[in-house]
Amino acid sequence: MTKEEIEQLLQKIEDLKVQKLQDVEDIRVKLLGKKGEITKMFEEFRSVLPEQKKEFGQKLNLLKTKAAEKIEALRENFENGQIAGCSKFDFTKPGDKFELGTRHPISLAREEILNIFGKFGYAVAEGPEIEDDWHVFTALNFPPDHPARDMQDTFFINPDSNDPILLRTHTSSVQVRTMERMPLPIRVVCPGRVFRNEAISARAHCIFHQVEGLYIDKHVSFADLKQAILLFVREMFGPDTQIRMRPSYFPFTEPSTEVDISCNICGGKGCNICKGTGWLEIMGAGMVDPNVLEASHIDSTKYTGFAFGMGIERIAMLKWQVNDLRHYFENDVRFLREFQSVI
Ligand code: PHE
Repeated sequence: MTKEEIEQLLQKIEDLKVQKLQDVEDIRVKLLGKKGEITKMFEEFRSVLPEQKKEFGQKLNLLKTKAAEKIEALRENFENGQIAGCSKFDFTKPGDKFELGTRHPISLAREEILNIFGKFGYAVAEGPEIEDDWHVFTALNFPPDHPARDMQDTFFINPDSNDPILLRTHTSSVQVRTMERMPLPIRVVCPGRVFRNEAISARAHCIFHQVEGLYIDKHVSFADLKQAILLFVREMFGPDTQIRMRPSYFPFTEPSTEVDISCNICGGKGCNICKGTGWLEIMGAGMVDPNVLEASHIDSTKYTGFAFGMGIERIAMLKWQVNDLRHYFENDVRFLREFQSVI
């Protein structure tokens, strides 16, 4: 044993690289095992000349410590997966699942409704959620003390003012703004959030969403209204869907109607969704009252029009069989994930 041999071995140990965990153990045996190189050197140490013992002793001890440290470091690195090419990472394993977000069902339904009317040539019009009395009521033929104002419980921002400001109760207000601003003919759909002072339950909410539509031109008839609704519901709920129109009342339309579709669950035979009737109510509609046209300076002797309005929550409930309105507002991811495949 020479000093050079000890130094060379020390250098070799410092440069050691391994491919697998077993290699670390092999190296340990080769260096420090019973017949290992270092063990052997310690045996040879016995025959080192006394005057060289101190120097050899120090070198050998250093070698042994370094070897033990290196082996320990290799094993640790190996276990942490830090050595290129010999990590524990299994590249063949399937990756961690990446959670995709979902679009909210109200957005999905809103988009689908607007797309369908878009194909029929309807533009999209939007307006403010905070409105004045004129656009929500007066221009829509609600006289000041008309009982129809009680039909919708309204959130007033300044209840005692003579010039009330309020949260809109329907997006018909946007139709008024469109009639005031846009040239004729008009063909628009008005999506938006609306507010009514109602107790929250499975079937009612104080905030919900509507899409209302308005078509004004010369010679627009009730038959046009019926056909537009029929085409819409067949696109939305399937080609076999039937419609039924029941007489109704709205201050802004005359005649007025409420529209039902044949139940898309039982096909009209009667089930618990349609409560055995075979029909589901989906919207209000009617011919625009001449007073409404005149309030927006449209000549009602030359022009006629129809309007309709539907709740997006209601349409989405019927399309996807959601049984509680509150799901739409709670944003429980388990509910939202149900719509991943709809996107
Ligand atoms: N504005 C009515 C509502 O909010 C819906 C409707 C619109 C009815 C247009 C008839 C015509 O209930």
